[in-house]
Amino acid sequence: MIDFTTDYLGLTLPNPLIVGASPLADDLSLARRFEDSGAAAIVMRSLFAEQISAEALARHRAVDPHVFAHVEAGSYLPDPEEYALGPQEYLSHVRRLKETLSIPVIASLNGDTPGRWMEYALLIEQAGADALELNIYGVPSRVDEDAGAVEQRICGIVEEVHRHVQLPLSVKLSAGFTAPLNFGAQLSEAGADGLVIFNRFYEPDIDVDALESVPRLLLSSSAELLPRLRWLAMMSAELPCSLAVTGGVHTVPDAIKSIMCGAHAVQMVSALLRHGPAHVASIIHGMSEWLVEHEYRSLDQLRGSMNARRCPDPSALTRGNYIHTLQSWGA
Ligand SMILES: Cc1cc2nc3c(=O)[nH]c(=O)nc-3n(C[C@H](O)[C@H](O)[C@H](O)COP(=O)(O)O)c2cc1C
Repeated sequence: MIDFTTDYLGLTLPNPLIVGASPLADDLSLARRFEDSGAAAIVMRSLFAEQISAEALARHRAVDPHVFAHVEAGSYLPDPEEYALGPQEYLSHVRRLKETLSIPVIASLNGDTPGRWMEYALLIEQAGADALELNIYGVPSRVDEDAGAVEQRICGIVEEVHRHVQLPLSVKLSAGFTAPLNFGAQLSEAGADGLVIFNRFYEPDIDVDALESVPRLLLSSSAELLPRLRWLAMMSAELPCSLAVTGGVHTVPDAIKSIMCGAHAVQMVSALLRHGPAHVASIIHGMSEWLVEHEYRSLDQLRGSMNARRCPDPSALTRGNYIHTLQSWGA
């Protein structure tokens, strides 16, 4: 019998498989089916800073239509009623999920500049969530804000949220920071108990006839896991915090590789949207078979075995891999 126990953000989980932030937690009976299939925790879809401020604005307008009359929401943002869960509904949904499930419920707050939305961390804690994932997805678009200032702004958000809640806190990071290891260490210092790597970027496409940006959501494939594996391998060798992978975990080998590179938890969304709750059970079963076949006794024994400290050749994670790969192309 393999010991699958995993510590993630201070939560003791029976296995590392987590349903990642998505609409999969919207429906209580579906969430229950994920729990029954063996999911160790579930992350709710995000509550967005923009929707919290839009709702506050709408409330003020209802009281006095002249207040903030000059402020127009960005036309590209959804209207408040288009979000699946409004701010108050979000809190009620945390409570409902907690009443329905026995696995940990992780809420998600999503914003990239400091603001009133951060107060929802405390409300989410009071609603009973077991942990909070802060998604700080942003697109630095000011020419006068340098990389250091972006990092400082994000660490400031983490510090502020950490100051106000006792909840275990993870930060869902975007790829592309100049110095991810250093930034990961700063986030950990600022109060993050864990990092979730990485956000997928949803770049807008262009409709050339209509001359319009077109949002496009494509599900991931296993190919997207590779950059995550590299940074898991580097971060797990250096950082003291929990690490979860998100992005490109579809198969048993994907999950095994993630743990080998140091992941404590493995989040899945696209694969579960495609295959449904039974996929969780089949991944756990497949991992267990693989571990038995390769004579592991626990997941801990596997964890980090291919990280930067322990893999046979750490240069495979840095420039060595780049040069080697380019030279490997045959005619
Ligand atoms: C339909 C859909 C909705 C999502 N909603 C959120 C969200 O609200 N907040 C968030 O942090 N990530 C959200 N994500 C991103 C996922 O949590 C995950 O990071 C991403 O899909 C990569 O994982 P995957 O390859 O397993 O799909 C969403 C993804 C999908 C496909």
